[in-house]
Amino acid sequence: MQADTVVCGILVDHRGVLGEGCVAARGGLVTGIHRKPVSAERVLDYRGMGVYVSPGFIDMHVHLRGLRLDYKEDERSGTAAAASAGITLVADMPNTVPRLSTPEALEKKLRALRKRSLVDYAVYAGVPDSPGLVEELASLPVAGFKIYPGDLEERMEAVKRILELPGALVVVHPELPEAEKPVAESNSLRAVHRGCHWEAAAVQLLRSLEPRARLHITHASCPSTIEHARNSGFTVDVAPHHLLLQGWGEDCLYRVNPPLRSSIEEWRLLQTLLEAGVNAVASDHAPHAAWEKTEPLTCSPGIAWLEAWPSLLYCLVEAGALRLEEFLRLAGKGPADILGLRGYGVLEPGARADLAAWRPASTRIGAPRWSKARLVPYFMERGCMEVLATLVGGVPVYVEGELTGEAEAVNPFERSRPG
Ligand code: DOR
Ligand code: ZN
Repeated sequence: MQADTVVCGILVDHRGVLGEGCVAARGGLVTGIHRKPVSAERVLDYRGMGVYVSPGFIDMHVHLRGLRLDYKEDERSGTAAAASAGITLVADMPNTVPRLSTPEALEKKLRALRKRSLVDYAVYAGVPDSPGLVEELASLPVAGFKIYPGDLEERMEAVKRILELPGALVVVHPELPEAEKPVAESNSLRAVHRGCHWEAAAVQLLRSLEPRARLHITHASCPSTIEHARNSGFTVDVAPHHLLLQGWGEDCLYRVNPPLRSSIEEWRLLQTLLEAGVNAVASDHAPHAAWEKTEPLTCSPGIAWLEAWPSLLYCLVEAGALRLEEFLRLAGKGPADILGLRGYGVLEPGARADLAAWRPASTRIGAPRWSKARLVPYFMERGCMEVLATLVGGVPVYVEGELTGEAEAVNPFERSRPG
């Protein structure tokens, strides 16, 4: 049977390089891996050009905003940014306005994603004010729950009920609510006041509750947090800014929670990553409007990473510090495993045909082109690879600098849908 799409180049996934060949896709799935292009409606042939064809990248921690925060970002602008970076699945956070902690808000968000997302998507439920809603939220097509520090103060009954859900994914922002109390300070003072001890304390607190759910610690900013998480049997991701951002200053562009750490802490975090001590890299793409990042007193925390992070992370491969396979594990198979998604992050027949064609190249990363968040720190200026094409379910959504206008994105947690 004729394929819908064939993409050719140097085939690679987290297990290693398969050699030059072609991936054929039909009906959203990889139907075969071939030496030469097979007959298809569309052929993207990058053979002989030093272009890798890999599983698309997966970002399990993004803020696409939307709803009443759509002036910061929305489901279309955020997923356009993702597609331009070879990211084929994003998992969206529930700290929207309104919060995604009622069935109504979640349904609305899922409808917006269904209509507007250019890449496959998942969404986490927020902790509900009423503990009685936990099971209902868990029965919706969500990836799991997200716990914020404030939930440990204001919604502890519901948190405990979530932790009781056997096997449910619970992603944790690992700080205690006390860490959030100081407000107007310098970035370097925040690193002290909002120190690593809060992260360790949050992990210990959750561990002491003996969860039956699967706990995942996100944006661990300190090596000690990773150690505590692993000793507790939790998975863990790190965000690019805690790994790669050197020489940061007092500017609001560098304000982020958890705060940026000292260069020693950052170096040790990187070392842990290079020693295969973490399960995933996730961006914590946190877009804000330009006026929110230029107003020093009300400075909104967050760095908008989506368009840049795979290319920046690849600099570690270029530098000889990270193996290509490890890069693909951290940016694909690792997050897929945490999310419990089979057929994602791998190149094999039967897998979802979410693919990225990209090549090592020194690139200039300017202001974001697709995200609404235009202000990014200067460290994003140079990347080490460029994305030529991004395919979601075998459909090219981004090709050589432009969106194609096509998309057949799915939410893999919706059982009736493929993937
Ligand atoms: O810096 C941050 N920004 N940290 C968070 O935990 C939330 C995020 C946001 O939503 O802006
Ligand atoms: Zn976040």
